[in-house]
Amino acid sequence: MRTRAAVLLGVAHAWHPAVQGACTRQRRSRDAVVWLGQRKHSSYDASHGNTLNASLASVVTHYRAIRAADVLIWHEGDLSRSDVDSPSEVNVRFCRLAPRTGWGRGRGQDRIRPRETRWSEGYMRMIRFYAVTGWDTLRHLGYEWWMRMDDDSFFLSNIDYNVFDAMRGGGYVYGFRALSRECDRMFGAFVDVYREDHGLPPLLDDGTIFCERVPKHCSRDGRPLRRQTRRAASRRRGARPEIRWPRRFRARPYCEGPGRVGFYNNWFVSSIEWWTSEPVSKFRRAFDASALIFSHRHNDLIFQSAAVRLLLARERWRRFADFSYQHHTVRDGRVTWGGLETGYDDPDAKRTVTDYLRRWHAHNPVSSKKCRVQLTRNDSRFYDVAYVPHGRTRWGVPAAPYCPKAGRAPLW
Ligand SMILES: *[C@@H]1O[C@H](CO)[C@@H](O)[C@H](O)[C@H]1NC(C)=O
Ligand SMILES: *[C@@H]1O[C@H](CO)[C@@H](O)[C@H](O)[C@H]1NC(C)=O
Repeated sequence: MRTRAAVLLGVAHAWHPAVQGACTRQRRSRDAVVWLGQRKHSSYDASHGNTLNASLASVVTHYRAIRAADVLIWHEGDLSRSDVDSPSEVNVRFCRLAPRTGWGRGRGQDRIRPRETRWSEGYMRMIRFYAVTGWDTLRHLGYEWWMRMDDDSFFLSNIDYNVFDAMRGGGYVYGFRALSRECDRMFGAFVDVYREDHGLPPLLDDGTIFCERVPKHCSRDGRPLRRQTRRAASRRRGARPEIRWPRRFRARPYCEGPGRVGFYNNWFVSSIEWWTSEPVSKFRRAFDASALIFSHRHNDLIFQSAAVRLLLARERWRRFADFSYQHHTVRDGRVTWGGLETGYDDPDAKRTVTDYLRRWHAHNPVSSKKCRVQLTRNDSRFYDVAYVPHGRTRWGVPAAPYCPKAGRAPLW
């Protein structure tokens, strides 16, 4: 029997969704293309409403095989058919976000206050859905593969094949489109402790470890951080629902930019079977129990990147770089984060870039850069793309989309 104390202390436990009646219509496919449409609650743009429709329209136009998948639009009860237009041959299912479908905080986490008030509750719930709970929810709905689109994600050139088939056919498990850099200030310590406790090999250094580059924000030898993360990472009885960091780490717990390289996961495609396998579920539960989502807004991007880097062989990674893809955040009419990356198979790649710059950066000193990217471990060729990040972060570094300095992006 679970004791009251254990519940209060937030001991990690398996999470069981109840999906009966969560979605409209019937499942027709094992492949799901997923949008999360939050009308209220967003950290970003209050007028979000119809970027969702525009995003879906871009996929319907450029990706014919969407007709072979199901489209799931997750929402909090404030979206309906009249908000999106799609051809009748696309199976669009509206699904309700609720505690029983993985929407909300983990047990014992209701009183955790985020370190910065600008992180909205809806944004942090979204993180938990993509990092922790959504995998179980989709599995219970009968899906085997998940492709994510954000409501500000756009396909800008054609994809003439079925992305899910490409994943299955090549034996791949995690597919991504672009890279970005995000802070690993405390999360890096969490991952290191988890890794040590579970006898996992060290992560390959990508050369951008936050504490090395900005040592004044970290302890000299990393020890205080390790002590704090150990309990959260190891899931022992009595693990605290929230890590109590030494005072000097509390000031600015999340720093955008100079962290490690990760998958820019506003688009990804992955196997639900892998994410719900025991080693990955265990890591998801440990991340959930740490409460780092709700105390420090540690996000699904850094979590997914860590899970894949720790637990998935490089041979199962698959970068997609053939199609042009846009994902950025607009505040007050300006792009404040993210950008564009062209695809090597976009016949109009040059025009895709000039159109984008004219539309979004007419008055900003932003230009496109070249990157040569590797797609799979097994293929030593590099493919040419161009990318336009929004500019530099407050730390003076480019962040998203990202390409290493040498202009080459191997599967690191
Ligand atoms: C959705 O987007 C399409 C394509 O741009 C447009 O024709 C349609 O009017 C939009 N529908 C809604 C409900 O916004
Ligand atoms: C290795 O790559 C080639 C293409 O470069 C592909 O045809 C082949 O199926 C790949 N093999 C594995 C095991 O992924």
